[in-house]
Amino acid sequence: MTLSVQDVHTYYGRSHVLQGISLDVADGETVALLGRNGAGKTTTMRSIVGLTPARRGRITLDGTDITGLTTHRIARHGIAFVPSGRRAYASLTVRQNLALSIRRSSDSGGWTLDRVLETFPKLQQLSDRRAGHLSGGEQQMLKLGRALLSVPRILLLDEPTEGLSPAIVSDLGRWLGILKEEKITVLITEQNALFALKYADRGYIIEKGLVRHEAPASELRESTEIQRYLGVAASA
Ligand SMILES: Nc1ncnc2c1ncn2[C@@H]1O[C@H](COP(=O)(O)OP(=O)(O)OP(=O)(O)O)[C@@H](O)[C@H]1O
Ligand SMILES: [Mg+2]
Repeated sequence: MTLSVQDVHTYYGRSHVLQGISLDVADGETVALLGRNGAGKTTTMRSIVGLTPARRGRITLDGTDITGLTTHRIARHGIAFVPSGRRAYASLTVRQNLALSIRRSSDSGGWTLDRVLETFPKLQQLSDRRAGHLSGGEQQMLKLGRALLSVPRILLLDEPTEGLSPAIVSDLGRWLGILKEEKITVLITEQNALFALKYADRGYIIEKGLVRHEAPASELRESTEIQRYLGVAASA
């Protein structure tokens, strides 16, 4: 399942935000999308899932053109977008939130409610708690669990560590390790570039809506120039 973004241009009203982004995410890869605030990372993800549709360019999944499809149809192709911030149904319990995400499909992809609760035992303990009462880290875990139940082929994770304590960030790292073992394809954005690069195979640096640099994650991890540019907080 290769996701390919080719020369995508996206606008907010008249503001031309993505000015020809091109990137690829191959089957089983974890790819980091890095850049300063306002570079267009979130907009790239929103364009891929059709929330802010590309006005020009092409987005394909294994060669199938998904540009211009509705967000709902794109989700059915197996792309799950996990936005940053809190997004669960606050008044429902953890279990109810998870149950809502179960995709009834013959292609179950192996992620059942039981398996999610096994992978995130903390969710099991919290299963009767209302999502609105969860901590930031618990919410993040719930969002990941929900995304897995939607049977993703590709997960788009937008700043998963945002607002999380270091202990929870390290939990999140373990979950990313699990996703990698499961060969789930991941595109991840992070302010915490070193965190993303620890799990990524490759990375793209974007600036003003364009890819400026693409390199193996190992190279980006070692480049002081890139880290200075990104203003890396060495907290990973
Ligand atoms: N709803 C919106 N309406 C108008 N402009 C927007 C909107 N959302 C984002 N923008 C602008 O689009 C540009 C790209 O924003 P985007 O959120 O994609 O950046 P980002 O790389 O995700 O930044 P951050 O690291 O802060 O999350 C920015 O200049 C931003 O101000
Ligand atoms: Mg963003």
